[in-house]
Amino acid sequence: MDKIKVRICSGSRCFMQGGSDLLSYAEFLDEGISSQCEFEVCNCLGECRKAGESDHEPPFAMIGEKVYGDMSPQKLYKVILEQLKC
Ligand code: FES
Repeated sequence: MDKIKVRICSGSRCFMQGGSDLLSYAEFLDEGISSQCEFEVCNCLGECRKAGESDHEPPFAMIGEKVYGDMSPQKLYKVILEQLKC
C-alpha cells in the first residue's frame, strides 16, 4: 500500500496561523499511523492567495491529492484516518 503523502504548508501565513502546531503534532502521531504517511513540509500551496474564493483559512495542508484549510491537529488526524480507511 502506498503511503499517504501529507504536505504541511510552512508558508508565512500558514505558519503564523497555526501551521507550526501541525509540524510539531505530526512528529508525535502514533507510529502505526505515521508509518503509513509520508510527511513533507512545503512552501506556500497558493491557497492563501485565493481570498474570497474559498471558505477556508490558513493553515493549509495537502493530504493525498486534496488541500484542506482551517487545519488543526485534530483535523489533520481525522483526515489521515479517513484516508487510511479508503
Ligand atoms: S502560506 Fe500556506 S497556502 Fe500560502
